[in-house]
Amino acid sequence: NETADLIEKMVGEMNTLMVYYRCAIMEVETKLKVLNEEFSLKHDRNPINSIKSRVKSYASIREKLQRGGIVATPEQIEKNLNDIAGVRVICSFLDDVYDVAEALLKQDDITLLCIKDYIKNPKPNGYRSLHLIIEIPIFLQHEKHMVKVEIQLRTIAQDFWASLEHQMRYKKNFVFTEEMANELLECATMSATLDERMEKLNICVNKDENNENQTGK
Ligand code: GTP
Ligand code: MG
Repeated sequence: NETADLIEKMVGEMNTLMVYYRCAIMEVETKLKVLNEEFSLKHDRNPINSIKSRVKSYASIREKLQRGGIVATPEQIEKNLNDIAGVRVICSFLDDVYDVAEALLKQDDITLLCIKDYIKNPKPNGYRSLHLIIEIPIFLQHEKHMVKVEIQLRTIAQDFWASLEHQMRYKKNFVFTEEMANELLECATMSATLDERMEKLNICVNKDENNENQTGK
């Protein structure tokens, strides 16, 4: 049966593509872990608090492409979507976000396709994060394949806000009243202040690394 063969071929191609995205996530995660190890060796602390990765579900892929009237074939997915592979990097301090991003982008097998700095320019609702769309090669038995990955870097405080905001927004597609939206924005501003104050404290700690406050082990 021809249709069955066609479907089988398509499913096979789709599975292959999803494996590529999972491999690209592994590559990016390893790079991040290496940077974290090196930094903690030098500075005795971790710039990366945690990493969360996911491959977008086929249902979400289809839904997103359908909005643009595009059929979700493997070719169209690769061409039109940048966020099938997603890596979220939760950093300790604001400076860490930029240091980690810079160190990653300096690597010569990574190509930056797009950068959106929602920390310097927060979204109107208060959302803050540094978004990178990159392309990274994965090496297969007979070929090299370039894969796009969306990397979101943010502080613990920014992640706290974004996670809870996302939970509330997706609950039954709830639409915030103006009052609630203002309250959310104020919470985002508060956590941004918290980040700045912690950043300043950390600068003091680093400056005083060899001072009298150290008990000396
Ligand atoms: P998408 O179609 O959602 O991918 O948007 P986009 O391509 O315009 O990119 P954008 O940089 O706006 O957002 C990409 C991703 O960032 C989203 O899928 C979310 O994971 C995250 N994000 C963006 N805005 C918000 C927000 O207001 N709140 C939360 N919690 N997350 C957000
Ligand atoms: Mg997205």
